[in-house]
Amino acid sequence: MKKSKQEGRGEHPLLKLIDTSKIPAHVAIIMDGNGRWAKSRGLARIEGHKAGIEGVKAAVEAAQEVGVKYLTLYAFSVENWKRPESEVKELFNLLDHYLEKEKEKIEEEQIRFRTIGRLNDLPKKTKKNLEDVQNKTMNHKGLTLTFALSYGGRAEICDAIGKMIGKAKMGEFSSEVTEDIVQKYLYAPDLPDPDLLIRTSGEYRISNFLLWQIAYTEIIILDVLWPDFRPEHFYEAVLDYQRRERRYGGVSE
Ligand code: IPE
Ligand code: IPE
Ligand code: MG
Repeated sequence: MKKSKQEGRGEHPLLKLIDTSKIPAHVAIIMDGNGRWAKSRGLARIEGHKAGIEGVKAAVEAAQEVGVKYLTLYAFSVENWKRPESEVKELFNLLDHYLEKEKEKIEEEQIRFRTIGRLNDLPKKTKKNLEDVQNKTMNHKGLTLTFALSYGGRAEICDAIGKMIGKAKMGEFSSEVTEDIVQKYLYAPDLPDPDLLIRTSGEYRISNFLLWQIAYTEIIILDVLWPDFRPEHFYEAVLDYQRRERRYGGVSE
């Protein structure tokens, strides 16, 4: 039996400050700033995306060290289709490359790989690669790593309503609409709501990410550009999260 990395904690000094009784189960990240990172170096935007792979590796490593169970990364939005065709093509090539390179690590560390979004919009080859990794890793017991691809929060809600209407037309939907029922029609109904949402690059917006799921998520905006994101940024965000009081509309204890 291969060992999950979540079993052992690393040595970073910030890690020791983290309260193990208050670990966010689900961390979601809006990985932003690749283009600006490249621009500031006089490079093409795609170089920023390539460098952004380091940010992805850092986030995965840090999530495992901290003992986070679910990590969800916003990699491509429904609105990102507006970008130049060449950039979009390069982004999916990079994703194919990442999956190929990380195959062994995903296996060794028992990472359960998932996706959310309109996968049918993706290039056929990429969609197949993603489905293969998902199928191979569905019983893995380590970190659940979800990539949001051709994802939009509104699109997800529309898709859920569409599925519900479809069921209703077949006469299979008779119950009252509750939050729990809507949840069942989302892309990944079994994922808990994120406890913590991190956005890099200093932008104070949600950009259509997980609109339904972030109702009570704690939000942290970091000034770092995504290619510069390292495990310490993740640890600092978790420490900041642990200092907050989540009231969910109630009153202080
Ligand atoms: C995030 O970086 C990656 C994707 C949205 C695919 P950006 O490409 O948005 O970088 P900026 O925001 O232009 O700097
Ligand atoms: C959000 O970043 C989408 C992803 C990180 C995939 P964008 O760069 O697309 O968002 P805006 O345009 O700044 O809101
Ligand atoms: Mg951006």
